[in-house]
Formats: sequence, C-alpha cells, structure tokens
Amino acid sequence: MGWTREEILAATGGEILRLGRQSVFGDVVTDSQRAVRRSVFVALQGQRVDGHAFLDDALRRGAGCLVVHKKLGNRKLNRVNPTVIKVEDTLKALGDLAHYRRQRVAPKVMAITGSNGKTTTKEMVASICRFAAIQGLPLRGRVLKTEGNYNNLVGLPLTLLRLASRDRVAVVELGTSEPGEIRRLTEIADPDFGIITSVAPAHLTGLNTLRGVAREKGALFRDMGPRGVAVVNLDDPWTRRLGKSFKGGKITYGTKGEVRGEKLKALGEKGTEFTLRAGGGRRRVRLRLPGVHNVSNALGAAAMAYGLGATLEAMRRGLEAVKPIPMRMAVEKVRGIGVINDAYNANPASMEAALKALAAIACKGNRVAVLGDMLELGRQASKRHYELGQAVARSGLDHLYLLGQFAPEVRRGALDQGMDGDRVTIGKNHSSVATLLHRQAKRGDWFLFKGSRGIGMEKVLATFRVMGG
Ligand SMILES: Nc1ncnc2c1ncn2[C@@H]1O[C@H](COP(=O)(O)OP(=O)(O)OP(=O)(O)O)[C@@H](O)[C@H]1O
Ligand SMILES: [Mg+2]
Repeated sequence: MGWTREEILAATGGEILRLGRQSVFGDVVTDSQRAVRRSVFVALQGQRVDGHAFLDDALRRGAGCLVVHKKLGNRKLNRVNPTVIKVEDTLKALGDLAHYRRQRVAPKVMAITGSNGKTTTKEMVASICRFAAIQGLPLRGRVLKTEGNYNNLVGLPLTLLRLASRDRVAVVELGTSEPGEIRRLTEIADPDFGIITSVAPAHLTGLNTLRGVAREKGALFRDMGPRGVAVVNLDDPWTRRLGKSFKGGKITYGTKGEVRGEKLKALGEKGTEFTLRAGGGRRRVRLRLPGVHNVSNALGAAAMAYGLGATLEAMRRGLEAVKPIPMRMAVEKVRGIGVINDAYNANPASMEAALKALAAIACKGNRVAVLGDMLELGRQASKRHYELGQAVARSGLDHLYLLGQFAPEVRRGALDQGMDGDRVTIGKNHSSVATLLHRQAKRGDWFLFKGSRGIGMEKVLATFRVMGG
C-alpha cells in the first residue's frame, strides 16, 4: 500500500519544497538502507544520528520522496528529481503518517501498555485472533502485530505503517520512558481497546515515582477517543484506580473481573492450568508459560479478545498456542540442569514474578538465581535492590549469584533477611559468574537468569552452556 503526494501532505500538513517527477510513492522508511525505488524517506533526527545526513543515500537507492525538517543545502537533485516535503518535525510527521494509515485501513486497534507483560499479552491477543472471527470473517492472516519491541515513538508508527488493506485487527504495544509518550502513542494509534497490564516501578529515571508511572500509563485510558474501551485489571490496585476514573466503556478482568481465572494449578516449568470464565461460559486452559503472572496476562488478553467478540474456544486455542518468547521465562535444559531464561529485562515487579515462578518449580537439587542489576530506577535504585535481596531470602532459594553495580545492595538485603553469606556470591564479570555456576552445578538444579537489558545476563547463560560437562 503506497502513498500519493496528496496523502502525504494531508497526513503531515507539510509543504512542498520541491516538486518531483513522481506523485505516487511506495512505503515509508526511516532507515536509508531500506529505501528502494519510490520509497518515502522520513529523515528522523536521532540522538546520535541525523537522518538528514542520509538523504543522498536514500536517493541513491531510489527514494522518490524525502520528508525533512531541515534545509537541504545546495544539493543537485535534478538528476534523480525527487519530491521533497518539509514538515516542522519529522518524528511527528512519522506518527501522523501512521495515524493516517490507521484511519484509512480502519482495523480494530488493540493497544497494550503497562510496566510488565506487554509483549506477552500482545502475543496472546494476536494468537487468540488467529482462531477468532469478526462478523463471520476469520481473522487468520488479517492480524498485524508489533514485531519484537517496536513500541516507542518510532516503533509504533513503523508498525502501523505496515498495515495493509486486508488487515482487520492491529495488536500494538505502547512503551514509555518519559512523560507524554503514551499520550502521543495513543493519539497515533487511536485504540478501539486499551489495556494497562500493570503499574510497577520501572523507568523511574524518567517517570520518578510509582504515581508518575500510573499517571503516564493512565494516559492510554484518558486519551482514548469516545469509541475506546478500557480493559481493566482489577488485581492491580493502580490499574483498578485508573479504570475507576475512566468514564467510557469497560471490560474488567482478574480474580473478580468479568473475565476471570479460577482453579489455578501450577505445572511448574510446564506452565499453569486454569479455568477461564467469560460471558457465562468456561473453559479449562493449559498455558504453556510458567509463572502465575502469565495467567494475569492471559486474562488480560482474553478480555481484549472478549471485547472483539471472540469465542471462549478461540481464547482457549489461542492461549494454548502461545509459546515462551525467547529470553522471557523460556525454559531449557543444559546438561541436566533446568534453566529459566528471563534475561530480557528486569524491574522489581518482574523480578518478584520470576522468583515466585522459580520457587514454584518441583526441584530435586538447588534453586539458584543469577541476577543482574535492575536499571533505570533513579533515586530508588539502592532501596529497590536491597528489597530484591530481601525477597530472594524470603523465597527460600539455595544460592544467589549477582552481577552489577548494585550487587552489594542486593547481598545486604538478602543477609539482613537471614540468608547465609556463603550462599550469596558477587561475580566480577559475566564469564566469572558462569565459571562459578559451572563449578557448583549439579543435575537436578534449577537456575534463573534475569537482569535488565543493559546487563545482558544471557551472556552468562551462553558461556555456561558451552562449558564442558
Ligand atoms: N503481569 C506481570 N506481572 C509481573 N511481571 C511480569 C508480568 N508479565 C511479565 N512479567 C515479567 O516481565 C518479563 C517481561 O515480560 P514482557 O516482555 O511481556 O514485558 P514487557 O512489558 O513487554 O517488557 P518491556 O518493557 O521490556 O518490553 C517477563 O519475563 C516476566 O518476568
Ligand atoms: Mg515488550
């Protein structure tokens, strides 16, 4: 699905700096290396790189239209003859183009934000959609979803710009690290359904306090249009409050919600079984993801799908088809040792969820947590790491390995809570932790790997994997 010159002008409110030969263009790209014949190249000004430095590269690869917010200098453009459109801010223009495409294709937009569980919930909603139908039309093959973590002011627009005319549903993740981002992302996505999975201490460097996190995530409900339905997690005190002050249509979920989970049975590393209830019916669901927090994500996804009109059977089949996402509670065996790889990211709430999941596994050997720092906690960093140590001690794990600047804080918390000093080891670097683990590891043990993205705890696991038996 391409763009006409008029559409680009209407979407962005830009002005023509230069009228080129073509008036019909291909897809929007922001990476000049992705430009092909007739592409629309939007020159974004990043912190490190300025897209305006790559205009020539985009043109060389065939771009037919440039969207810029800076002067072009004395370029000789006559040979390639592109159209050049000037806007006030190219980042805003990218969002505007995405919004235009979203309104034009008009799918049901399912927007997902929250401190934890966004990507998991997104995968679950998309999976249910594959088994569902709207007005008798099967949705399989007509569902667009955010790939990976494309959830910010660049990623969300690039996701929506992939919308094609056949798409009936778009499942998108909205992420934030600064106040105001969710507001703008909501404006771009104009959701039909919005969910805030949880409010927990994360990204405190930009959002300061838990209240700040709640205010920022709450923008999804506040700024949804009149069509927007809020999907409200009643089990989280903050989201419950945000739901309460929302005046429009609502669907609640949780232990007491309209969409609820009952009779939970933990299957350890194999996942969790529960009875899903919605709209007067029920189904037993066998979720393949470990940790009860994933039941909460599943209920949220089911509630979103319920809003779309999906059947309970579609919810069951969709939820059961979801496999662990790499580096998020992904289970594997290494030389007879069970491994939970949750190294994708970490904050206090997700650490707690992962520790609970480790404690719930039937384990004949030692339960070992291998934890890295939780980043972006601002002024609360020391306190939150100390509390993490306390939580580890309370969960009764056998050994704790630590890596990072805040490791001594975690250790202090664990020891204060009664954990034996011999059971808490601080490593110097990734490979030293892997070596220590290797020395201690015995068949039947279970290891949990987790830390913030910037710490890369998967590197410890990678080294541990290749060490001889
Ligand atoms: N509902 C939840 N409550 C607490 N922790 C959770 C929940 N869901 C997931 N987690 C934890 O957070 C980790 C990341 O999950 P997921 O990738 O779904 O979250 P996300 O919100 O997309 O994260 P990011 O902000 O890093 O993109 C999981 O592996 C798990 O440890
Ligand atoms: Mg994510």
